[in-house]
Amino acid sequence: MSKIAIFYGPVGGAVNRVADKIKEAIGEDKVEMIAVKNASAADIEKYDKIIFGLSTVGKDTWDSSFSSNDWGRFMPEIGKVDYGSKKVAVFGLGDHVTYAHGFVDHIGLLGKELMANGAVLVGQVSTEGYEFDESDAVVEGKFIGLPVDEDFEPEMTDKRVASWVEQIRSDFGF
Ligand SMILES: Cc1cc2nc3c(=O)[nH]c(=O)nc-3n(C[C@H](O)[C@H](O)[C@H](O)COP(=O)(O)O)c2cc1C
Repeated sequence: MSKIAIFYGPVGGAVNRVADKIKEAIGEDKVEMIAVKNASAADIEKYDKIIFGLSTVGKDTWDSSFSSNDWGRFMPEIGKVDYGSKKVAVFGLGDHVTYAHGFVDHIGLLGKELMANGAVLVGQVSTEGYEFDESDAVVEGKFIGLPVDEDFEPEMTDKRVASWVEQIRSDFGF
């Protein structure tokens, strides 16, 4: 069975923590962890089952002049790959209290870029159970990836991860 790649960034924060939990829930031996700060399009090409993990930390994340930022550097690599034959899912960290008007927006930004490059995203999540005002991650009434709030709802994380991993299990074939 081919491995599932988790491309995540930044290293050492909430995204990293949740990436580890997803890896554990899928099964350590079935997952390859790849920090986006060291990765390129050629690394994405190696896998046909991919989970991307990121946080929403303001516009600077995506500004290529912030090349020291993990996702700022990696984002241009996303558009160099055709995802038509790949299974792809996204999870994203956010803060639904302080940023209720842009909760996990970057799940939306990344997800739309992936879809523009042929991806059919799996692992959509109902907005029920989340409180927020606006989110670019919501498309046709659902989050297009898994939102996690380690700042204000850390007690929900394990349950959210467990149910999402079950949801993507058959699509990813693990
Ligand atoms: C400067 C800054 C801007 C942020 N902007 C948003 C935002 O627009 N929407 C959101 O949902 N969370 C926002 N957050 C919350 C982060 O996404 C959240 O704290 C996340 O857990 C950070 O994960 P990381 O440490 O792995 O990057 C912001 C946090 C910071 C520090």
